[in-house]
Amino acid sequence: MRNPLPAFLVGLCILGAACSRRKPDPPRNAMSRDVHSYSEPEKIRVTHLDLDCDVLFGSKTLRGSATLTIERSAGAGDAPLIVDTRDLAVEKVELSTDGATFTPGSFELGAADKILGSPLRIPVSAATRKVRIHYSTSPAASGLQWLEPAQTAGRKHPFLFSQSQAIHARSWIPLQDTPAVRFTYEARIRTPKTLRALMSADNDPNAPRTGEYRFRMTLPIPSYLMALAVGDMEFRAISPRSGVYAEPPVIEAAAKEFEDTEKMIEAVESLYGPYRWGRYDILVLPPSFPFGGMENPKLTFATPTILAGDKSLVSLVSHELAHSWSGNLVTNATWSDFWLNEGVTTYIEMRIQERIYGRARAEMEAVLGKQTLEKELKELPPGDQVLHIDLAGRDPDDGVTDVPYIKGMLFLRTLEENFGRPRFDAFLRAYFDHFAFQSITTSQFLDYLRRNLLDQNPAVSARIPIDEWVYKPGLPAGAAEPRSDAFEKVRQQAEAWYLGKLDLNAISSAGWTTQEWLHFLRYFEQHPLEPARMQALDNRFHFTRSGNAEIVAEWLLLAVRRQYHAADARLEAFLVGVGRRKFLKPLYQELLQTPEGAARARAIFAKARPGYHPITAASVAGWLEKGPAK
Ligand code: BES
Ligand code: ZN
Repeated sequence: MRNPLPAFLVGLCILGAACSRRKPDPPRNAMSRDVHSYSEPEKIRVTHLDLDCDVLFGSKTLRGSATLTIERSAGAGDAPLIVDTRDLAVEKVELSTDGATFTPGSFELGAADKILGSPLRIPVSAATRKVRIHYSTSPAASGLQWLEPAQTAGRKHPFLFSQSQAIHARSWIPLQDTPAVRFTYEARIRTPKTLRALMSADNDPNAPRTGEYRFRMTLPIPSYLMALAVGDMEFRAISPRSGVYAEPPVIEAAAKEFEDTEKMIEAVESLYGPYRWGRYDILVLPPSFPFGGMENPKLTFATPTILAGDKSLVSLVSHELAHSWSGNLVTNATWSDFWLNEGVTTYIEMRIQERIYGRARAEMEAVLGKQTLEKELKELPPGDQVLHIDLAGRDPDDGVTDVPYIKGMLFLRTLEENFGRPRFDAFLRAYFDHFAFQSITTSQFLDYLRRNLLDQNPAVSARIPIDEWVYKPGLPAGAAEPRSDAFEKVRQQAEAWYLGKLDLNAISSAGWTTQEWLHFLRYFEQHPLEPARMQALDNRFHFTRSGNAEIVAEWLLLAVRRQYHAADARLEAFLVGVGRRKFLKPLYQELLQTPEGAARARAIFAKARPGYHPITAASVAGWLEKGPAK
């Protein structure tokens, strides 16, 4: 900043009118503290993790040790080291002052909280530099899924994968499980010899299958980015720094689907500066993976449900790749600041999509996103419609709605449209440089935004109600409005057929993209069809047997709602075969709307449950217990 004071004053005057009405920012020490961790990093901070463990498929446990390098603050007094755990069996603790020799230490495992798990308190002295915890995980660890061979594509070997975000790393590693703490790590993982292990670290595509794998992550990352997968995975290169891992039956399709990855990396680099993590690889997991994707550094985890065969669902790769800047480089300090990860990422995702696949496709995706947001805003309580969300006493997963993603994206897009791309692009690029490898709160973001964008342009800033965007429910006036001409044409035809003015065979759907099909189907969410007309649509377009997961999911939702029973078998196969929560939630909730549907939901869940990830199984059980949402 060349001239901070005058700029600051200008900003104050401009914001004056709004300021007098708005609620003050929450005090820093209230919502900027991470309420989802027992750790006290302001006293003692973990800077490095050394993980050494055996992957035991027989007992579905990891067993080994985590050695934490710690740094004590001046005012820490005789504070113990407190780390987060959930369902870990702690065998013993050892301490070291020289980092090489260890002596026995004591520990105390606190009572288990349903959301937070148990604090592990370890008394340490001022001279303690390393703490080694010997432990094993529970077969029900919330952050791990152990798959039987039958649940994999190859059906021959078992598979293990982790999913640490938001607070599940503590179920497989004892650590300060808060995104405010960053650490480097090294790991030694022993597996059955036929399998390969991969982590969110340096992976060597050519490593021989010895059953012992070593990893290093030399850049400091938050705990939710700790990741491990073990299975029969092959590798295909996409470019010198990028490639795909997947089970043998999936690898070719995956390599083809993701062939634009290098172009995507180059697109973000040209906008926001160099990719700082070395390699960027994608691991395609078995279908029970509970998310679409997870931005594990250097190794994105992805659901196989995006392998549509025509690259139509690769915005997910754009999204996870974008997290290499927004999220992994500049990280939300608490789960209340989650929108900083997901909103900025969704904005960048759309910029990548525009670069690689053109404005028309990016706009279609933005419109689809805005539609889901608007639908969700009708159902969410006002407190959950704000970007900076209060999650005290709640599971951080409760904050995972379209609000941080789409409202966050629209906030950035509104800034972009008002300030112009060149200025906004320069702002974001400088933001990533300024906060690189730091974890920041919403107020730090807003301070930086004021100082580096708003205050320089008071007349423009006056048009954007920043505090309303961040702290108030709903979408503010003046929000960016994505628009798609192609969608307009699709809607007109859907409507004409619906009103009996157009024959089904006259719909000119040749060349429609997945996004256009989704828009077409969504028209009928609001415009009820009798089963006979559902049948007519299905006969003409074969939705029930579509291989595109997004299209099938949208169609099955209509099928449940309109009692179109010809799709029953497909619905069951989909709900049993796919563990991605985004698809499961609307389908189960739609089934719950009628007593017969609820009975079917329970019967399907009974079949599907053994194959679901522990987090997914718990969510589905919760939905079934609560009954219909509306
Ligand atoms: N980081 C998220 C996934 C996540 C969020 C896991 C919160 C656990 C808690 C990831 O980047 C993500 O947003 N995935 C989306 C896909 C994306 C294209 C919107 C998903 O999984 O659907
Ligand atoms: Zn994301």
